[in-house]
Amino acid sequence: MPGFADRIVAWQRTTGRHDLPWQGTRDAYRVWLSEIMLQQTQVATVVPYYRRFVERFPDVAALASADVHEVMRLWAGLGYYARARNLHACARRVAAEHERRFPRTARELAQLPGIGRSTAAAIAAFCFDERAAILDGNVKRVLARQFGVAGFPGAAAVERELWARAESLLPAAAQMPSYTQGLMDLGATICTKTQPRCDHCPVQPTCVALRSGRVDELPAPRPGRSTRTRSAQLLLLVDGDRVLLEQRPGVGIWGGLLAPLQFDRVEEMTTALHALAPGALAQALAPRRHAFTHFTLQFTPHLARCDRPLAAMEPRLRWVDRADIEHAALPAPIRILLRELMAGG
Ligand code: ADE
Repeated sequence: MPGFADRIVAWQRTTGRHDLPWQGTRDAYRVWLSEIMLQQTQVATVVPYYRRFVERFPDVAALASADVHEVMRLWAGLGYYARARNLHACARRVAAEHERRFPRTARELAQLPGIGRSTAAAIAAFCFDERAAILDGNVKRVLARQFGVAGFPGAAAVERELWARAESLLPAAAQMPSYTQGLMDLGATICTKTQPRCDHCPVQPTCVALRSGRVDELPAPRPGRSTRTRSAQLLLLVDGDRVLLEQRPGVGIWGGLLAPLQFDRVEEMTTALHALAPGALAQALAPRRHAFTHFTLQFTPHLARCDRPLAAMEPRLRWVDRADIEHAALPAPIRILLRELMAGG
Protein backbone atom coordinates (compact mmCIF):
# COMPACT_ATOMS: atom_id res chain seq x y z
CA MET A 1 0.00 0.00 0.00
CA PRO A 2 1.28 3.53 -0.76
CA GLY A 3 2.42 5.56 2.26
CA PHE A 4 0.22 7.95 4.22
CA ALA A 5 1.28 11.08 2.32
CA ASP A 6 0.92 9.47 -1.12
CA ARG A 7 -2.64 8.42 -0.34
CA ILE A 8 -3.50 11.91 0.91
CA VAL A 9 -1.99 13.49 -2.21
CA ALA A 10 -3.80 11.15 -4.61
CA TRP A 11 -7.08 11.67 -2.78
CA GLN A 12 -6.65 15.48 -2.78
CA ARG A 13 -6.08 15.48 -6.53
CA THR A 14 -9.19 13.42 -7.32
CA THR A 15 -11.59 14.27 -4.51
CA GLY A 16 -10.34 17.28 -2.53
CA ARG A 17 -11.41 20.90 -2.90
CA HIS A 18 -9.99 22.79 -5.90
CA ASP A 19 -12.21 25.82 -6.40
CA LEU A 20 -11.84 27.81 -3.20
CA PRO A 21 -11.06 31.47 -4.03
CA TRP A 22 -7.59 31.33 -2.43
CA GLN A 23 -6.56 28.24 -4.38
CA GLY A 24 -4.78 28.42 -7.73
CA THR A 25 -2.50 31.20 -6.54
CA ARG A 26 1.02 31.14 -5.13
CA ASP A 27 0.71 34.77 -4.04
CA ALA A 28 1.83 34.63 -0.42
CA TYR A 29 -0.25 37.71 0.43
CA ARG A 30 -3.49 35.99 -0.62
CA VAL A 31 -2.56 32.67 0.92
CA TRP A 32 -1.59 34.38 4.18
CA LEU A 33 -4.85 36.37 4.24
CA SER A 34 -6.93 33.23 3.68
CA GLU A 35 -5.04 31.21 6.29
CA ILE A 36 -5.54 33.89 8.95
CA MET A 37 -9.25 34.14 8.14
CA LEU A 38 -9.62 30.34 8.18
CA GLN A 39 -8.22 30.01 11.70
CA GLN A 40 -11.15 28.76 13.81
CA THR A 41 -13.54 29.83 11.05
CA GLN A 42 -15.41 27.77 8.45
CA VAL A 43 -14.75 28.08 4.74
CA ALA A 44 -18.33 29.16 3.96
CA THR A 45 -18.07 32.04 6.43
CA VAL A 46 -14.67 33.14 5.18
CA VAL A 47 -15.37 33.24 1.41
CA PRO A 48 -17.31 36.57 1.25
CA TYR A 49 -14.90 38.26 3.69
CA TYR A 50 -11.91 37.07 1.71
CA ARG A 51 -13.39 38.42 -1.53
CA ARG A 52 -14.14 41.81 0.02
CA PHE A 53 -10.64 42.03 1.51
CA VAL A 54 -8.75 41.25 -1.70
CA GLU A 55 -10.95 43.65 -3.63
CA ARG A 56 -10.34 46.49 -1.18
CA PHE A 57 -6.72 45.52 -0.40
CA PRO A 58 -5.29 43.78 -3.50
CA ASP A 59 -1.77 43.55 -2.09
CA VAL A 60 0.16 43.86 1.12
CA ALA A 61 1.04 47.51 0.44
CA ALA A 62 -2.66 48.45 0.20
CA LEU A 63 -3.42 46.73 3.49
CA ALA A 64 -0.37 48.23 5.20
CA SER A 65 -1.37 51.77 4.27
CA ALA A 66 -5.01 51.33 5.37
CA ASP A 67 -6.42 52.75 8.58
CA VAL A 68 -6.75 50.01 11.22
CA HIS A 69 -10.37 51.05 11.81
CA GLU A 70 -11.24 50.28 8.22
CA VAL A 71 -9.62 46.87 8.58
CA MET A 72 -11.65 46.24 11.76
CA ARG A 73 -14.85 47.31 10.00
CA LEU A 74 -14.25 44.89 7.12
CA TRP A 75 -13.43 42.14 9.63
CA ALA A 76 -16.50 42.71 11.82
CA GLY A 77 -18.54 39.51 12.05
CA LEU A 78 -15.61 37.10 11.52
CA GLY A 79 -14.82 36.97 15.26
CA TYR A 80 -11.48 36.55 17.07
CA TYR A 81 -10.66 40.21 16.48
CA ALA A 82 -7.05 39.95 17.64
CA ARG A 83 -6.56 38.34 14.21
CA ALA A 84 -7.57 41.57 12.46
CA ARG A 85 -5.24 43.73 14.55
CA ASN A 86 -2.37 41.28 13.96
CA LEU A 87 -3.23 41.14 10.26
CA HIS A 88 -2.75 44.86 9.96
CA ALA A 89 0.42 44.83 12.10
CA CYS A 90 1.82 42.01 9.97
CA ALA A 91 1.13 43.86 6.70
CA ARG A 92 2.93 46.91 8.09
CA ARG A 93 5.94 44.80 9.09
CA VAL A 94 6.14 43.15 5.64
CA ALA A 95 5.88 46.56 3.98
CA ALA A 96 8.43 48.23 6.23
CA GLU A 97 10.97 45.46 6.84
CA HIS A 98 10.66 43.02 3.93
CA GLU A 99 10.26 45.33 0.93
CA ARG A 100 6.57 44.36 0.61
CA ARG A 101 7.37 40.71 -0.06
CA PHE A 102 6.50 37.96 2.39
CA PRO A 103 9.58 35.98 3.49
CA ARG A 104 9.87 32.60 1.77
CA THR A 105 10.56 30.25 4.67
CA ALA A 106 8.31 28.98 7.46
CA ARG A 107 10.93 29.95 10.00
CA GLU A 108 10.90 33.61 8.95
CA LEU A 109 7.13 33.71 8.42
CA ALA A 110 6.60 32.52 11.99
CA GLN A 111 8.39 35.66 13.27
CA LEU A 112 5.60 37.89 11.93
CA PRO A 113 2.61 39.04 14.04
CA GLY A 114 -0.29 36.59 14.09
CA ILE A 115 1.54 33.82 12.18
CA GLY A 116 2.02 30.73 14.33
CA ARG A 117 4.03 27.64 13.48
CA SER A 118 1.21 25.87 11.61
CA THR A 119 0.10 28.92 9.61
CA ALA A 120 3.71 29.67 8.66
CA ALA A 121 4.09 26.09 7.44
CA ALA A 122 0.88 26.27 5.40
CA ILE A 123 1.99 29.45 3.62
CA ALA A 124 5.49 28.07 2.97
CA ALA A 125 4.10 24.76 1.69
CA PHE A 126 1.45 26.32 -0.57
CA CYS A 127 3.61 29.09 -2.02
CA PHE A 128 7.18 27.82 -1.86
CA ASP A 129 6.87 23.98 -1.70
CA GLU A 130 8.64 23.94 1.65
CA ARG A 131 8.61 20.64 3.52
CA ALA A 132 7.04 22.17 6.64
CA ALA A 133 4.32 20.43 8.66
CA ILE A 134 0.97 21.96 9.55
CA LEU A 135 -0.85 21.03 12.76
CA ASP A 136 -4.10 22.87 13.30
CA GLY A 137 -7.09 21.49 15.22
CA ASN A 138 -8.36 19.48 12.25
CA VAL A 139 -4.98 17.92 11.54
CA LYS A 140 -4.52 17.05 15.22
CA ARG A 141 -7.77 15.12 15.03
CA VAL A 142 -6.73 13.28 11.84
CA LEU A 143 -3.34 12.29 13.28
CA ALA A 144 -4.67 11.40 16.74
CA ARG A 145 -7.10 8.98 15.11
CA GLN A 146 -4.75 7.64 12.44
CA PHE A 147 -2.04 6.79 14.98
CA GLY A 148 -4.20 6.24 18.05
CA VAL A 149 -2.58 9.10 19.99
CA ALA A 150 -4.29 9.28 23.38
CA GLY A 151 -4.53 12.38 25.60
CA PHE A 152 -5.78 15.90 25.05
CA PRO A 153 -3.98 17.35 21.99
CA GLY A 154 -3.63 20.73 23.74
CA ALA A 155 -1.41 19.14 26.41
CA ALA A 156 2.26 19.87 25.77
CA ALA A 157 3.46 16.25 25.64
CA VAL A 158 0.64 15.14 23.32
CA GLU A 159 1.20 18.13 21.07
CA ARG A 160 4.92 17.34 20.87
CA GLU A 161 4.14 13.81 19.79
CA LEU A 162 1.69 15.04 17.13
CA TRP A 163 4.24 17.52 15.76
CA ALA A 164 6.81 14.74 15.53
CA ARG A 165 4.31 12.54 13.66
CA ALA A 166 3.38 15.41 11.34
CA GLU A 167 7.04 16.14 10.52
CA SER A 168 7.81 12.48 9.82
CA LEU A 169 5.01 12.08 7.26
CA LEU A 170 5.93 14.85 4.79
CA PRO A 171 6.20 13.95 1.08
CA ALA A 172 8.71 15.36 -1.44
CA ALA A 173 8.72 19.14 -1.91
CA ALA A 174 6.77 19.06 -5.18
CA GLN A 175 3.86 17.35 -3.42
CA MET A 176 3.68 19.71 -0.46
CA PRO A 177 0.85 21.93 -1.74
CA SER A 178 -1.46 18.99 -2.54
CA TYR A 179 -0.52 17.15 0.64
CA THR A 180 -1.12 20.17 2.87
CA GLN A 181 -4.44 20.96 1.22
CA GLY A 182 -5.36 17.26 1.36
CA LEU A 183 -4.82 17.07 5.12
CA MET A 184 -6.98 20.16 5.57
CA ASP A 185 -9.70 18.82 3.28
CA LEU A 186 -9.70 15.45 5.00
CA GLY A 187 -10.09 17.04 8.43
CA ALA A 188 -12.84 19.37 7.24
CA THR A 189 -14.92 16.99 5.12
CA ILE A 190 -14.19 13.34 6.08
CA CYS A 191 -12.46 13.01 9.46
CA THR A 192 -14.93 15.37 11.14
CA LYS A 193 -15.41 15.70 14.88
CA THR A 194 -18.81 14.01 14.86
CA GLN A 195 -20.06 11.48 12.32
CA PRO A 196 -16.80 11.05 10.40
CA ARG A 197 -17.20 9.41 6.98
CA CYS A 198 -14.64 6.65 7.46
CA ASP A 199 -15.94 4.70 4.47
CA HIS A 200 -14.70 7.53 2.20
CA CYS A 201 -11.33 8.01 3.90
CA PRO A 202 -8.14 7.37 1.89
CA VAL A 203 -6.17 6.45 5.04
CA GLN A 204 -8.88 4.30 6.59
CA PRO A 205 -7.01 0.96 6.14
CA THR A 206 -4.24 2.18 8.47
CA CYS A 207 -6.40 4.05 10.98
CA VAL A 208 -5.64 2.84 14.52
CA ALA A 209 -8.73 4.51 16.00
CA LEU A 210 -11.03 2.82 13.48
CA ARG A 211 -9.42 -0.58 13.94
CA SER A 212 -9.72 -0.35 17.72
CA GLY A 213 -13.21 1.18 17.78
CA ARG A 214 -12.03 4.47 19.29
CA VAL A 215 -12.96 6.96 16.57
CA ASP A 216 -15.53 8.54 18.90
CA GLU A 217 -13.02 8.80 21.76
CA LEU A 218 -10.13 10.35 19.86
CA PRO A 219 -8.88 12.97 20.13
CA ALA A 220 -9.51 13.11 23.88
CA PRO A 221 -11.42 16.18 25.10
CA ARG A 222 -9.83 18.78 27.35
CA PRO A 223 -9.82 17.32 30.86
CA GLY A 224 -12.03 18.86 33.52
CA ARG A 225 -13.61 21.57 31.47
CA SER A 226 -17.26 21.90 30.70
CA THR A 227 -18.60 24.74 28.63
CA ARG A 228 -19.45 27.52 30.99
CA THR A 229 -22.14 30.09 30.71
CA ARG A 230 -21.61 33.72 31.61
CA SER A 231 -24.33 36.29 31.84
CA ALA A 232 -24.22 39.96 31.00
CA GLN A 233 -26.58 42.91 31.00
CA LEU A 234 -26.52 45.15 27.93
CA LEU A 235 -27.76 48.72 28.11
CA LEU A 236 -29.39 49.92 24.89
CA LEU A 237 -29.85 53.62 25.35
CA VAL A 238 -31.86 54.92 22.41
CA ASP A 239 -32.45 58.53 21.47
CA GLY A 240 -34.84 58.66 18.49
CA ASP A 241 -32.94 57.13 15.57
CA ARG A 242 -29.65 56.55 17.34
CA VAL A 243 -28.26 54.21 19.95
CA LEU A 244 -25.42 54.72 22.41
CA LEU A 245 -22.50 52.32 21.97
CA GLU A 246 -19.06 52.05 23.46
CA GLN A 247 -15.77 51.33 21.79
CA ARG A 248 -14.70 48.17 23.59
CA PRO A 249 -11.14 47.82 24.88
CA GLY A 250 -8.67 46.07 22.60
CA VAL A 251 -8.51 42.89 24.65
CA GLY A 252 -11.33 40.56 25.69
CA ILE A 253 -14.50 39.62 23.87
CA TRP A 254 -15.47 41.91 21.00
CA GLY A 255 -12.15 43.71 21.49
CA GLY A 256 -11.94 46.96 19.54
CA LEU A 257 -15.52 46.76 18.27
CA LEU A 258 -18.52 48.92 19.08
CA ALA A 259 -21.06 47.32 21.42
CA PRO A 260 -23.72 48.40 23.90
CA LEU A 261 -22.52 49.15 27.43
CA GLN A 262 -22.11 45.82 29.19
CA PHE A 263 -22.44 44.99 32.87
CA ASP A 264 -22.22 41.87 35.00
CA ARG A 265 -25.20 42.79 37.16
CA VAL A 266 -28.46 44.66 36.69
CA GLU A 267 -27.71 47.02 39.61
CA GLU A 268 -24.51 48.18 37.92
CA MET A 269 -26.42 48.82 34.73
CA THR A 270 -29.07 50.84 36.57
CA THR A 271 -26.43 52.96 38.29
CA ALA A 272 -24.75 53.71 34.97
CA LEU A 273 -28.07 54.54 33.33
CA HIS A 274 -28.91 57.02 36.09
CA ALA A 275 -25.54 58.70 35.67
CA LEU A 276 -25.97 59.01 31.91
CA ALA A 277 -29.68 59.79 31.69
CA PRO A 278 -31.22 60.64 35.04
CA GLY A 279 -34.86 59.62 35.18
CA ALA A 280 -34.72 57.23 32.21
CA LEU A 281 -36.23 53.79 32.80
CA ALA A 282 -34.87 50.53 31.43
CA GLN A 283 -37.05 47.70 30.20
CA ALA A 284 -35.57 44.20 30.05
CA LEU A 285 -35.99 42.30 26.78
CA ALA A 286 -35.77 38.56 26.22
CA PRO A 287 -32.25 37.20 26.88
CA ARG A 288 -30.17 35.88 24.01
CA ARG A 289 -27.21 33.56 23.81
CA HIS A 290 -23.98 33.71 21.87
CA ALA A 291 -21.41 30.91 21.89
CA PHE A 292 -17.72 31.80 22.15
CA THR A 293 -15.01 29.15 22.10
CA HIS A 294 -14.67 28.75 25.84
CA PHE A 295 -18.04 29.88 27.12
CA THR A 296 -21.54 30.87 26.16
CA LEU A 297 -22.58 34.43 26.82
CA GLN A 298 -26.18 34.83 27.88
CA PHE A 299 -26.99 38.52 27.54
CA THR A 300 -30.10 40.40 28.53
CA PRO A 301 -30.72 43.60 26.57
CA HIS A 302 -32.27 46.48 28.53
CA LEU A 303 -33.94 49.14 26.41
CA ALA A 304 -33.98 52.71 27.74
CA ARG A 305 -35.15 55.82 25.91
CA CYS A 306 -33.57 59.15 26.45
CA ASP A 307 -34.87 62.45 25.16
CA ARG A 308 -32.32 64.89 26.55
CA PRO A 309 -28.57 65.35 26.07
CA LEU A 310 -26.62 62.90 28.18
CA ALA A 311 -25.53 64.05 31.60
CA ALA A 312 -22.08 62.60 30.99
CA MET A 313 -20.49 61.66 27.66
CA GLU A 314 -17.21 59.81 27.83
CA PRO A 315 -14.85 59.66 24.85
CA ARG A 316 -15.30 55.91 24.43
CA LEU A 317 -19.07 56.40 23.97
CA ARG A 318 -20.52 57.03 20.55
CA TRP A 319 -24.01 57.65 19.18
CA VAL A 320 -24.60 55.42 16.18
CA ASP A 321 -27.41 56.20 13.75
CA ARG A 322 -29.84 53.54 12.65
CA ALA A 323 -28.63 54.07 9.07
CA ASP A 324 -25.06 53.14 10.09
CA ILE A 325 -25.84 49.87 11.85
CA GLU A 326 -25.16 47.75 8.76
CA HIS A 327 -21.64 49.14 8.31
CA ALA A 328 -20.38 49.96 11.78
CA ALA A 329 -17.73 47.69 13.38
CA LEU A 330 -20.22 45.64 15.39
CA PRO A 331 -20.08 42.00 16.57
CA ALA A 332 -22.54 39.94 14.50
CA PRO A 333 -25.01 39.15 17.35
CA ILE A 334 -25.11 42.85 18.29
CA ARG A 335 -25.78 43.90 14.71
CA ILE A 336 -28.68 41.44 14.61
CA LEU A 337 -30.03 42.76 17.91
CA LEU A 338 -29.79 46.40 16.84
CA ARG A 339 -31.31 45.67 13.44
CA GLU A 340 -34.37 44.22 15.17
CA LEU A 341 -34.53 46.92 17.81
CA MET A 342 -34.18 49.88 15.48
CA ALA A 343 -36.25 48.43 12.61
CA GLY A 344 -38.89 50.73 11.28
CA GLY A 345 -38.00 53.35 13.87
N1 ADE B 1 -8.50 25.78 6.57
C1 ADE B 1 -7.29 26.32 6.79
N2 ADE B 1 -6.64 26.51 5.63
C2 ADE B 1 -7.45 26.09 4.64
C3 ADE B 1 -7.35 26.03 3.24
N3 ADE B 1 -6.26 26.46 2.60
N4 ADE B 1 -8.39 25.53 2.55
C4 ADE B 1 -9.47 25.12 3.20
N5 ADE B 1 -9.63 25.14 4.50
C5 ADE B 1 -8.63 25.63 5.24
